[in-house]
Amino acid sequence: MLTIAQITDLHVTTAKDPVNGPRNAERLRLVLASIRQLKPQPAAIMISGDLVDRGQAEEYAILQDLLRHVDIPVYYGLGNHDRRDVFLKAFEGRGIRVDENGFVQYAVDFGALRMVVCDTLEEGSEGGGFCDRRAAWLAATLDEAPDKPTFIALHHPPILSGIQWMDPEPDEPWIERLADVIRDRPQVRALVAGHLHRAFSGVLAGRLVVAAPATSIQLTLNLTAVDMKKPDGREILVEEPPGYALVMLERGQVTTHICVAGDYSPAVAYTVPFRK
Ligand SMILES: [Fe+2]
Repeated sequence: MLTIAQITDLHVTTAKDPVNGPRNAERLRLVLASIRQLKPQPAAIMISGDLVDRGQAEEYAILQDLLRHVDIPVYYGLGNHDRRDVFLKAFEGRGIRVDENGFVQYAVDFGALRMVVCDTLEEGSEGGGFCDRRAAWLAATLDEAPDKPTFIALHHPPILSGIQWMDPEPDEPWIERLADVIRDRPQVRALVAGHLHRAFSGVLAGRLVVAAPATSIQLTLNLTAVDMKKPDGREILVEEPPGYALVMLERGQVTTHICVAGDYSPAVAYTVPFRK
């Protein structure tokens, strides 16, 4: 069995941040402690964007400090709260890979499982982007290993959650571009995303898409209509527990678990033989 922990939407800030204070760093510590207890230990931790809250160099420095004691290899992707240039400068010399156009896109082989990280950061926009150049890179990268089970990690889910103030239009060009690349490449078994700060799943071009919960705060599940220009005082974020996803390759199948971080009391122990 092979597992990769996916954490997302860390939104790390300085402890003096007027909105978040030290909360998001504390929640990240809780998630890392939960991952440390996993057996077997994941082969890697993939962080799928919104690494920090304001894209500032000092926030990236705090993130590096928080991850200093993690002894599992860590891989990074970018979200809409990141700044590509600030991130690349902050992580200079730490083996960050970019594609031929400077996007933070790369593939990693973990034995029989391949991870392809895609960069959906569209600077100046909250929503996702995936231009022709990024799509061409993805097609060529997938074609390097057509027979190896592969999952794609990206920040923005290319599917609808029903939480209207966060959702893309289903036919946005970047989504259609992404769907066109994966449609005829059956080695792509799943896409794992973040951005929604809530676990949900759907299908794009016949592939499973799973969004992991945030390590920071979660989005309130409110599926009612919203006027994007008229704030109505509704709750939009909630202090539900932090979580993460675990991508698993087991006997050729790629599946995911959604995990809640924290310590919980045992409920039942294994004391009589199992029956199937
Ligand atoms: Fe986020």
